[in-house]
Amino acid sequence: MAPEIETRIAALRRRVADARGSGLRVGCVPTMGALHAGHTALFDHARADCDLLVATLFVNPLQFDRRDDLESYPRDMGTDLRICGRHGVHILFAPPVEEMYPRRPATYVEVEGLGSTLCGASRPGHFRGVATVVLKLLNIVQPHFACFGEKDYQQLAIIRRLVEDANMPVEIVGVPTVREEDGVALSSRNALLSAEQRDAAPILVRTLRAARNAIEANEFDARGLCRRAQDLFRRNPHVRLDYFEIVDPNTLQPVERIEHPVRIAVAAFFGPIRLIDNLAASPPKAR
Ligand code: PAJ
Repeated sequence: MAPEIETRIAALRRRVADARGSGLRVGCVPTMGALHAGHTALFDHARADCDLLVATLFVNPLQFDRRDDLESYPRDMGTDLRICGRHGVHILFAPPVEEMYPRRPATYVEVEGLGSTLCGASRPGHFRGVATVVLKLLNIVQPHFACFGEKDYQQLAIIRRLVEDANMPVEIVGVPTVREEDGVALSSRNALLSAEQRDAAPILVRTLRAARNAIEANEFDARGLCRRAQDLFRRNPHVRLDYFEIVDPNTLQPVERIEHPVRIAVAAFFGPIRLIDNLAASPPKAR
């Protein structure tokens, strides 16, 4: 069934308040549209645990550090609506920019530490924009829980910390990454890759898996593993590495000696397109 579309905050709030008032459990999946199987995994996950599923579709200008990236972000409302309908979304909240930002906000959310490493280092202001809009969306929708993908692991960690620090009455649920057959993580940005760039994209997951396998085989030298991955990137002319790091899964700070579970994270440019991916890994003793 096609979802109901709401573009106004007040109307959406009324719908959710009515549902909550009659005892229904409300789930929320925030997105920027250009929906693919990664998003629908979140819808399916959320739908299984709620009575009313609200998806949000808002391409948040605040989190784009480059104008060309914002302008080229894929948009296709018709297709997105059909996908929402097929995956049990009851309400699609798709506000225009003026509804979310009637004027330039004076209040921003900065999640210290977690927001400045990894992607935060190369995309200044990005996570401030994400945390600010997620705070707004969760305050607007007021769901019992909201789902986010592990594909954006740093984003998930930041949102968990935001909700904890601000005592927000919402549960944050992480959902595993959905991948193509060749292992490439689904992303709205994959559609922007040239054929050559798409052929080169599996280098992300290949280097992650190689590092994970080494860790599982008791390799503990994180720097050595990162250097090995960096060498592989250097040899591929279609890709420019941004970072390859092995970090603590909670603090996102780089680890030197791998003795506990870690997160391996990578970001790289294929022409102007920046893709990210990550994997969990545990040394044999920690498993
Ligand atoms: P967007 O990139 O549209 O992603 C929406 C949600 O889908 C995020 O939680 C993201 O982690 C998840 N997702 C994307 N690709 C996935 C994949 N391959 N497997 C599993 N989950 C995947 O992330 C955002 O939008 C925005 O920053 C947002 C949180 C909506 C704030 O503007």
